[in-house]
Amino acid sequence: MDKAVFSLKGVEFSYHDSSPLLSGLNLDFYYGDSVCLLGANGSGKSTVLKMLCALLFPTRGIFRAFGDDIDEARMENDRYAKEYRRRVGFVFQNSEAQLFTTRIWDEIAFGPLQLGLAARDVKQRVEDIAGLLRIEDLLERSPYRLSGGEKKKVALACVLVMNPEVLILDEPTNGLDPKTQRWLIELLLQLNKAGRTIITATHNLELAHAISKRALVLSEEHRLIGDGNTFEILSNRDLLIQVNLIDEYTHIHESHEHTHRFIHA
Ligand SMILES: Nc1ncnc2c1ncn2[C@@H]1O[C@H](COP(=O)(O)OP(=O)(O)O)[C@@H](O)[C@H]1O
Ligand SMILES: [Mg+2]
Repeated sequence: MDKAVFSLKGVEFSYHDSSPLLSGLNLDFYYGDSVCLLGANGSGKSTVLKMLCALLFPTRGIFRAFGDDIDEARMENDRYAKEYRRRVGFVFQNSEAQLFTTRIWDEIAFGPLQLGLAARDVKQRVEDIAGLLRIEDLLERSPYRLSGGEKKKVALACVLVMNPEVLILDEPTNGLDPKTQRWLIELLLQLNKAGRTIITATHNLELAHAISKRALVLSEEHRLIGDGNTFEILSNRDLLIQVNLIDEYTHIHESHEHTHRFIHA
């Protein structure tokens, strides 16, 4: 069996007719890994994640997932696309974009109902996931009046209720208070331990350190210029300054005052 969950080979991507945003991208993601994709705003993180989710397709090169070559034509096959969406869960940067019903319960039940599960099983799944995320008291409420953190939890619930093999998260800690961030880190560690493959785009270096062993770095010119052990990548100050993830001031300040800023797993 192909050991890589996802494999990008010589991938080029452009939006519309513009010159390629990404080119010559070669990258493999392995089963059971937790990987962080680091980069400043505009470096291309969301674009890469959307390719992994088969929402965008390479304009050149090959994208392979679960051993299959994926292109637009394959995703037009409804059965294939449905199965793909079940296996690969995506939590968008903007959770609001993901919520569209008027009751949280219906929101979370939507995916399982689409799978054609029996009502009783759907109910069980919704209750289980609400318990895991501790959002039981939100189930009867409308998504529109929730706080940012609550919306993020609901968006996560909608994805986790499908029991995906791969969880892809775009800037998951944005807008979350420190306690909810800590909670999310624990949840992601737990899911990864249970065998889920997790891919997270972030510019939150503490999050990267806490949840991933492997880190990828995209430069502001949209090139993959780092791929390695997260601790080593995060210790490479010159690299982080080069890609604008930290600035010189932080660099000097940190080397004098906190050489040990990150939380160790
Ligand atoms: N739908 C789009 N059409 C045209 N350009 C886009 C679109 N989405 C993103 N871009 C551009 O692609 C680049 C990378 O964006 P993105 O992948 O969102 O980066 P990041 O997630 O790292 O902030 C940016 O310059 C952005 O303006
Ligand atoms: Mg983004």
